[in-house]
Amino acid sequence: KIPESIQIGGHTYRTDSWTNVTPRISSFVGKNIYLRKNHPLWLIKERIIAYFNWRYPGRYSPAFTVVDNLSPVVTTEQNFDSILVPADHVSRSKSDSYYVNKSHLLRAHTSAHQSDLLRSGFREFLVVGDVYRRDEINATHYPVFHQMEGVRLRYAHELRDDPDFKAIKSPAEVRSPGCQESHTEEAAAVMEKDLKGCLEGLVKSLFGQKVELRWNESFFPFTHPSWEMEVKYNNEWLELLGCGIMEQKILNNAGIHDQIGWACGIGLERIAMRLYEIPDIRLFWSEDSGFLSQFEVDNIRKLIKYKAVSQFPQCTNDVSFWIPEHFEKNDFYELVRDCGGELVEQVKIIDEFTHPKSGRKSLCYRIIYRHMEKTLTKDKANSIHKNIEKIAVDKLGVQIR
Ligand code: PHE
Repeated sequence: KIPESIQIGGHTYRTDSWTNVTPRISSFVGKNIYLRKNHPLWLIKERIIAYFNWRYPGRYSPAFTVVDNLSPVVTTEQNFDSILVPADHVSRSKSDSYYVNKSHLLRAHTSAHQSDLLRSGFREFLVVGDVYRRDEINATHYPVFHQMEGVRLRYAHELRDDPDFKAIKSPAEVRSPGCQESHTEEAAAVMEKDLKGCLEGLVKSLFGQKVELRWNESFFPFTHPSWEMEVKYNNEWLELLGCGIMEQKILNNAGIHDQIGWACGIGLERIAMRLYEIPDIRLFWSEDSGFLSQFEVDNIRKLIKYKAVSQFPQCTNDVSFWIPEHFEKNDFYELVRDCGGELVEQVKIIDEFTHPKSGRKSLCYRIIYRHMEKTLTKDKANSIHKNIEKIAVDKLGVQIR
């Protein structure tokens, strides 16, 4: 039943009794919708990056390094052990995660890369990528979603302009609800203020200064203390992110003994759904231009409110023609509207070409048809399209190629 090996993202992996990724799930790997320009997740990602660059300007280049190309196939060491998830933690179970085999899984969070990046020498970074979890299926849950991980390390002297100020205590004392055993309370407090200030500023920059937000205490194996932030949405509190002061052991294991850090994990779909009023998480995977074109803005901060597109399928037809000397693009749009009426959803130029010898110009238009109340048959769309071609020839003097 299970094949001996499976291919994911161009690599071959041996399967075993742990394997539970399905072909459908692995087909999401490599789609990288968050890298697609003007996809709503790309817009959110770009806005978060712009915010971090504004808040933490570097001396010569942005302080935060953005890492957006790491494979979602990670080891259990990366996803769990490296960030101190206990051996018996529920998140390790086959019912919660998508395993490729006993040693590899599709990352359940971007925190899987914290440790590697610290070892590589990064001390301020953002990791963005697709994450995979076995979960319920409804309008806000999907087995694949996207996260942005933020990590920021600080030396004591960066926290306070005082040569005697310490961040790390040795020997360590006891852990309290608000502070790790090896941190000074003063340093932990400065870090907490920076972390919360950063994330409150982020959420305000996205949703406006008046957004209602609140902090709740939380628990993660890789941070202490930990918090989650919720924002008010449709009169309900919606969780947007988790964060906290990084467990010093993670830094120590990466060879870092003289810095203290904070980390956060931000859910991109949650933000996009609330910001753009996208009602269903499945829409992020839509290839429908009626969805995607609503996010074609030239300013990432432009206010977009998603309008539902018809659930009936589109019919796409292209037409290329040589244009006469005096041709007005708007005349063609009007003609299409006249012939196609409400069945035309979009018209766009997909190619322009000037013949090198004759100097004649040709245009290729893509016309997308869709009925709002029922399925438009290909035949019906074709006949409208033929009619548009004919009238364009008669009335506008174009020559069909
Ligand atoms: N990895 C956590 C999650 O996916 C979020 C998180 C990241 C929390 C970093 C704390 C620090 O829920």
